[in-house]
Amino acid sequence: MLDKTHATPGFNGPGYDYDYLVQDDRVHQSLYTDPAIFTAEMTHIFGAVWVYLAHESQIPKNDDFITARLGLRPIIVLRDSDGVIRALYNRCTHRGTTLCRLEKGSAHVFRCPYHGWTFNNTGKLRNVPWPDGYATDFKDSKFNVAQVPRVESYRGFIFGTLNLDAPSLSDYLGPVKGPIDEWLDRHPGGKVAICEANRLNYRGNWKLAYDNSCDGYHVVFSHRSLLDMENRLVDEADKGMSFYKGKPDQAPMYMKYFGHGHHYKDKRPNMEIKPGAMWAIEGPHPGMEHYEAELRRRLGSRADEALDLASSEPVNINVFPNFSILGNHIQVFEPLSVNETNAVWYGTAVVDDEGIWGDSLPLINALRMRTQEGFPNFGEVDDLANFEEIQRGLGAFEDEWVYMHRGMDIPGRITTDEHGVIKAPATDEMFMREYIKEWKRLMQTEPNIQIKREP
Ligand code: FES
Ligand SMILES: [Fe+2]
Repeated sequence: MLDKTHATPGFNGPGYDYDYLVQDDRVHQSLYTDPAIFTAEMTHIFGAVWVYLAHESQIPKNDDFITARLGLRPIIVLRDSDGVIRALYNRCTHRGTTLCRLEKGSAHVFRCPYHGWTFNNTGKLRNVPWPDGYATDFKDSKFNVAQVPRVESYRGFIFGTLNLDAPSLSDYLGPVKGPIDEWLDRHPGGKVAICEANRLNYRGNWKLAYDNSCDGYHVVFSHRSLLDMENRLVDEADKGMSFYKGKPDQAPMYMKYFGHGHHYKDKRPNMEIKPGAMWAIEGPHPGMEHYEAELRRRLGSRADEALDLASSEPVNINVFPNFSILGNHIQVFEPLSVNETNAVWYGTAVVDDEGIWGDSLPLINALRMRTQEGFPNFGEVDDLANFEEIQRGLGAFEDEWVYMHRGMDIPGRITTDEHGVIKAPATDEMFMREYIKEWKRLMQTEPNIQIKREP
């Protein structure tokens, strides 16, 4: 039997037929391989929706800044000298070079490394060297640095959008705020601080990571060596990701789709609800033993609670298009080109403003950091290898379709509640089909993109 192929069907240019490229059960390989689609995504996705930029704990004081990305746009996220959080374009208004090449720091002015124009951290031009060589007084706002017009935080997580027609951040997040709240509220004071990052990069499209972020189907196959290792290191084989062994769809864990591309995997129903339950399933990494012993010695009956704070919460919370909370990590996807992406894992630390844990807090956070070293080192590498091999496989471009129909058309398997939240078993591809429908809607919608400058 021969297949007619539409691999190069004249979709080039503005006439992309997204109804053809995204079908109910499958998507066209060009979503992952076509540079023109990637370029359109930088406006229709990364310009149009709320994109995660940074966490407030990374810029705790006035004048603190970090550099980040909004799609391909280099950005400086900062707290200006009056405490206002802004996302400046990291782009000099003279000839366009980046103004700041550091990852983070503190500065009330930015001086361009090229010709020395200086800007206040509000973005306003402050000084131009040898101004008598110019016939302008530089009062025109066009010389002030461009900035993201809408920047909002949700409980410390800072997002920005260029789209004046986007809903409020709170409405954009919608019901995914529920799992985010639960994730934060298990910490003292309902907050965390972001730690340094484990910066990974893969040669593949950014959506391959988002497609995988709730995928419970691959775990026992792709992460087999990790599961084997975890089980070798303990007496009873019931650690780490062992939820997925046997028949994972018969376990009480589930996935949910919340709209706007956001989705969630909740593995907590597999656990008992009691102090120490999270620690009991934590994958054992050699070298953690003395932390546990010391916390038990110091804290006695409160030790289980402390050990749970150091354990990875078994949830995956995914906020479209670039932000995930997994275990104790947050992960940020940074598209670099149609076939290259950064996948950056940030650890998080317990913040204990009220001193509940006293001088045991550093020990809890040290153990928490040890648990957080595990997955990016031993699990994420499996995922990145998959993403790179998918990208390579899709180079066989006449074979056009990528299927995501697991769970489809099976009566009673997928349910939708009165709020429109869709629920499915843990290994379904429901979340992929739903978020890619939203992707298609956005690619077919013209956003109202604007930039802002100080007057
Ligand atoms: S490019 Fe910045 S001062 Fe010239
Ligand atoms: Fe994985």
